[in-house]
Amino acid sequence: MKALMCDKYGPPEALHIVDLPDPVPGEGEALIEVSYASLNFFDLLVIENKYQVKPPLPFSPAAEFSGRIAALGPGDGGFKIGDRVLGYTGFGCAREKLVCPVDKLAALPASLPEDKAAGLSITYGTTLHALKQRADLKNGETLVVLGASGGVGLAAVEIGALMGAKVIACASSDEKLAFVRKFGAAETVNYATSDLRAELKRLTGGRGVDVVYDPVGGALTEPALRSLGWKGRLLVIGFASGEIPKPPLNLVLLKGCDIRGVFWGDFLTREPQVHLANMAALLDYAASGAISAHVHAAYPLESYLEAFGTIARREALGKVLLKMPSAA
Ligand SMILES: NC(=O)c1ccc[n+]([C@@H]2O[C@H](COP(=O)([O-])OP(=O)(O)OC[C@H]3O[C@@H](n4cnc5c(N)ncnc54)[C@H](OP(=O)(O)O)[C@@H]3O)[C@@H](O)[C@H]2O)c1
Repeated sequence: MKALMCDKYGPPEALHIVDLPDPVPGEGEALIEVSYASLNFFDLLVIENKYQVKPPLPFSPAAEFSGRIAALGPGDGGFKIGDRVLGYTGFGCAREKLVCPVDKLAALPASLPEDKAAGLSITYGTTLHALKQRADLKNGETLVVLGASGGVGLAAVEIGALMGAKVIACASSDEKLAFVRKFGAAETVNYATSDLRAELKRLTGGRGVDVVYDPVGGALTEPALRSLGWKGRLLVIGFASGEIPKPPLNLVLLKGCDIRGVFWGDFLTREPQVHLANMAALLDYAASGAISAHVHAAYPLESYLEAFGTIARREALGKVLLKMPSAA
């Protein structure tokens, strides 16, 4: 089988494809024939050894996948050969076959295609956890989403609208904003060409917003924090801009507001039952079409440089996937 490998830290150009023997599932494990491996922004950081997840070298990048069960070890967890599944493993998915513990798999509903399933765990899982358990977002509240056309951003637009919030989607181009309007954004702000704080003030009639979803950080965080209303919540999702902001804490005092961290990777091990309930809800939403799980593009494994480049150049509209030969 073919596997994309990182055997020394560096940019995507340092990765390469190798032939490896098929892995063999042990007790409580399944051998998966991977259909799609999903890439996330953080994969760029993982391969450069700049992320909190530090897989031992050599490893395959990509943290989540969809595929079919090709073999099962003893203790099959109720799965059978041929089942269509998705899973999250943290790294190791950009390969034609992988071994995964059965308790990390979820069966796909019949109506959910494998490409849409591949990227559901991380972006939508993070976002449902953020908006439900961390922000306690309520029907009728105003939700501002920064980086709204990217992976987690698009998920926040969709889930926010589904939870009954008025979503103000913010991004760096009019093309990106036209795209997110199709997924439930009521209002949009181009933060490359207009003043984010002034626009949010205008759009809320001076009242301020209830929740900010911030996967970008850098220079956007402070104006977003200043745009919160009384008892607003700023969700710290990530720092795609490359800069961890240090906003003045007097703003938190003056607004009686909260800055709330979101760490999905730890949430799913610390609160597994809540995570499983979230994943069941997301599979229902995706199967019924209530969320789109939009795929920007699925690149053949050998086109991995193009796939990583799409994310690095800020071009991704939703999810970027690597497609394996066995994909239906
Ligand atoms: N907290 C958690 O548990 C968790 C889980 C998953 C992901 N994350 C984090 O969320 C962030 C976004 O991840 P993603 O996979 O959604 O990324 P993505 O699809 O690449 O989207 C990131 C967005 O950030 C904006 N951006 C601003 N400056 C950028 C830059 N220098 N390079 C790239 N994008 C830039 C872009 O929107 P504009 O061009 O419109 O500004 C882009 O659409 C990452 O920091 C990731 O680590 C956190």
